[in-house]
Amino acid sequence: MSSVRFEAVSKVYGTDSKALSDFTLDVEDGEFVVLVGPSGCGKSTTLRVLAGLEEATTGRVFIEDTDITDETPSKRDIAMVFQNYALYPHMTVFDNMAFSLKMRKMPKENIKQLVTETAEVLGISEYLNRKPKELSGGQRQRVALGRAIVRQPKVFLFDEPLSNLDAKLRVQMRNELARLHSKLKATMIYVTHDQAEAMTLGDRIVVLKDGFIQQVAPPLEVYNNPCNKFVAGFIGSPAMNFFKAQVSNETLFMVKSEVALADGTDGQYTVGIRPEDILVSDSGKFSCSVEVVETLGSEKVVIGTTVSDELVTARCRPDLDVHPGDDVSFDIDMNKLHLFSLDGAEDKV
Ligand SMILES: Nc1ncnc2c1ncn2[C@@H]1O[C@H](COP(=O)(O)OP(=O)(O)OP(=O)(O)O)[C@@H](O)[C@H]1O
Ligand SMILES: [Mg+2]
Repeated sequence: MSSVRFEAVSKVYGTDSKALSDFTLDVEDGEFVVLVGPSGCGKSTTLRVLAGLEEATTGRVFIEDTDITDETPSKRDIAMVFQNYALYPHMTVFDNMAFSLKMRKMPKENIKQLVTETAEVLGISEYLNRKPKELSGGQRQRVALGRAIVRQPKVFLFDEPLSNLDAKLRVQMRNELARLHSKLKATMIYVTHDQAEAMTLGDRIVVLKDGFIQQVAPPLEVYNNPCNKFVAGFIGSPAMNFFKAQVSNETLFMVKSEVALADGTDGQYTVGIRPEDILVSDSGKFSCSVEVVETLGSEKVVIGTTVSDELVTARCRPDLDVHPGDDVSFDIDMNKLHLFSLDGAEDKV
């Protein structure tokens, strides 16, 4: 297994379509790194440049200490699992998994052993003689994983490998992937636009926007300490609330109310507060008009419009009787405020 290094990699498609800008990242040997960001932010491009399916416009790519920027894909020893698992339809599961090993001229007995063992790990032993069309989506997905695993590559790349699966199977496969990673101790780079997947799988998360890295950090660090408003709004579900705010004389004005603020420079800001830090209560300091109530069992989520005409998502005790159209008050945990600047970068202050 191996470390990976991107050094100031940029990718321009054609003459002016800049997909990736000055991308620098070190992935440690055995690490599970998740690239996350909205559609078109450059996630697949990053993997494709590493796999050698696209050429970097500028910058270098390394595996261990070897510069592989100009190496052909087949020499890079990387296995990539795509969203549309692209199995060979006319081959059995066994042959799909064995294919790359046969090409490498591995002895038949060794191939059999490796494929059988891997199928066992993935729970697909009983399907080895079936064709892909005789499998469910989740089973096909596991075959695609198996095909990558038997190759014992230096690095695994996953490009949204679970997005074709239904919600329950997604969670199940997500857990299997996590288990697989701790078993194989392999270097894995995983792409998703699903922030929940990123949070649960990654040792570290890389948040991308418009081809630029926004933040690289462990999941909880990104969650608790987002570097800017974009990251704050992208990571976490339901998404963070944002209110216009003003600080002056150790007082914070927002949602037509004021609260004391121990430290903070006078000025205008965006305040970010996660829904779990806002609680509907009888005697809250702030108020809103309720529009939607989602009953989740353990709690309710209330979505409404504040008196300052901003959207708010808040938690609510499940036994509290709240309905659309009600005016309710809410409290905010002032220890959990995030302040963001109003300039272009909207950095956390
Ligand atoms: N072959 C190509 N030619 C021109 N532009 C491209 C090409 N491939 C990708 N792009 C552009 O580069 C940008 C990044 O694309 P990329 O496929 O890396 O995004 P992504 O983050 O994987 O998005 P998604 O979540 O939708 O898969 C996009 O704006 C896309 O339109
Ligand atoms: Mg993509």
